[in-house]
Amino acid sequence: MTDRIRTDIAHNARVWNYWLGGKDNYPVDRAVGDQVTGMYPSIGEVARADRAFLGRAVRYLAAEAGIRQFLDIGTGLPTAENTHEVAQRVAPESRIAYVDNDPIVLTHARALLTSSPEGATAYIDADAHHPEGILRAIEPTLDPKRPVAVMMLGILNFILDTAAARSVVKTLMDAVPSGSHLVLTHPTLELGGEGNAEAMRFWNENATPPITARSREEFESFLEGLEVLEPGIVSCALWRPDEGAEGAPVAQFGAVARKP
Ligand SMILES: C[S@@+](CC[C@H](N)C(=O)[O-])C[C@H]1O[C@@H](n2cnc3c(N)ncnc32)[C@H](O)[C@@H]1O
Repeated sequence: MTDRIRTDIAHNARVWNYWLGGKDNYPVDRAVGDQVTGMYPSIGEVARADRAFLGRAVRYLAAEAGIRQFLDIGTGLPTAENTHEVAQRVAPESRIAYVDNDPIVLTHARALLTSSPEGATAYIDADAHHPEGILRAIEPTLDPKRPVAVMMLGILNFILDTAAARSVVKTLMDAVPSGSHLVLTHPTLELGGEGNAEAMRFWNENATPPITARSREEFESFLEGLEVLEPGIVSCALWRPDEGAEGAPVAQFGAVARKP
């Protein structure tokens, strides 16, 4: 599988890892990552705020909403505080299915598969454009009759057509029972993110996969039919910040919603 890894063009999973301070990236990723940072200096803060949001959202879902099953699509390279670590710290029996389509994430999947003995983790090499395949692949890991937290952090932005992205979310949320949750983050040119327009154009000419930003209205449309939890759709940095650790807002929408 490693022969699928291309080191001649920057890949999102590896550049995201670079912005987060990780070591699983190549010179081409660092070069593009630095150029994007030059155009959009807050991108590192966006990446860190997104990960911190993931931690708070999973902690809430495991500790307060009683969720024991997580479907984390667009997992990224393993880093600190991966979904299974946060969830299983609260509830060791938690079961997590990770999904990504970048070959480098697959080579690191072992690190995602270190479940507590009471729970389970699985890694699925699949494309978020095809939710039916994902739903089939998670069957051995997640019980379709019990609530699932469907997590799509920084991934719908790679499904460029908004109607297609909405349909992916709908297919997934239609397949899970009442009490399931949807956790989303998404870059935007709102919330002070105007500078990202030039950086995204540069990304789309020099890196893969191509990306798009979305408006609040478009982000909101992904949550249709769900109950959006407080504080609603906000910069992910402002979603239930830990006391004393309130970060500055970043141009990345975040929300958690419950299927009624
Ligand atoms: C910005 S990173 C986000 C990682 C993690 N969810 C987080 O919030 O820190 C996006 C991830 O989505 C993956 N990805 C991009 N397009 C994808 C697709 N069509 N199917 C599955 N994964 C995809 C990339 O490989 C990358 O690991």
